Amino acid sequence: MTDDNRRNEQLARIARNNMGEAAADVPSEPIGLADPKISARGVNVFYGAKQAIKDVSIDVGMDNVVAFIGPSGCGKSTFLRTLNRMNDTIPIARVEGDIRLDGEDIYSPKMDVVQLRARVGMVFQKPNPFPKSIYDNVAYGPRIHGLASGKAELDEIVERSLQRAGLWNEVSDRLSDSGTALSGGQQQRLCIARAIAVDPEVILMDEPCSALDPIATAKIEELIHALRGQYAIVIVTHNMQQAARVSQRTAFFHLGTLVEYGKTSEIFTNPREEKTKDYITGRYG
Ligand SMILES: Nc1ncnc2c1ncn2[C@@H]1O[C@H](COP(=O)(O)OP(=O)(O)O)[C@@H](O)[C@H]1O
Ligand SMILES: [Mg+2]
Repeated sequence: MTDDNRRNEQLARIARNNMGEAAADVPSEPIGLADPKISARGVNVFYGAKQAIKDVSIDVGMDNVVAFIGPSGCGKSTFLRTLNRMNDTIPIARVEGDIRLDGEDIYSPKMDVVQLRARVGMVFQKPNPFPKSIYDNVAYGPRIHGLASGKAELDEIVERSLQRAGLWNEVSDRLSDSGTALSGGQQQRLCIARAIAVDPEVILMDEPCSALDPIATAKIEELIHALRGQYAIVIVTHNMQQAARVSQRTAFFHLGTLVEYGKTSEIFTNPREEKTKDYITGRYG
């Protein structure tokens, strides 16, 4: 067996184990899902004159975790940011195309971007808790959006969000400590709790484990499994083992284009495109 084959076999085995019973409920046609949460069509993104995303179309469903993979610089983060208009914060960035959340055009002038970013939450590479208490980190969004009618309800939201993020047991007795005093992995789960607190529909994660050690990474991966189905989840990762472990669908990007999108098990066992095959066998990237 060549190294390529061995590597392929290993990824396929991880993907098969992950898929297990989930495999049956993942439709094989990813574009044109019956009931997509997010539907992007013909998306182009430019930084000044440079085009970073070229004609990307994709549907993201509610019940699958979607992984974006591809070599560094291929546009994963750029495309992810189009899904909650984070590129709006980059002056030279320009987005073309049609992106819908539950059928609603998110680039419509009528769209309230603050509301949109609550509905489509984001977790970044480097944990970025506010320099505030653990409690206030989680309570921040619900306060801004007026989601709690009083202290008791806010307490409830904070506890529930920390529970869902798998952090409650570790912090319940020190909610007034600073969020920045937690370990890296705990900070990242705090950031996930902060996103969850405003009751989002979609959670976008951009290499959420790249700054974490293997144990903290495993915790985040378990958390992604637990959150599946409650939120539409998209995770950017340059780690193919991670994509195979946490996702049911994988999108492979290369030089700004979406080369292939399908069931994770199929992408890792039987990719349709030569470029995908080259990437998953480690030939480049
Ligand atoms: N803020 C920016 N300004 C200008 N170019 C950018 C900016 N962010 C990303 N790019 C460029 O866009 C391309 C895609 O980058 P990115 O989306 O960060 O890729 P990935 O996340 O896959 O590594 C790269 O060529 C990168 O240099
Ligand atoms: Mg990136």
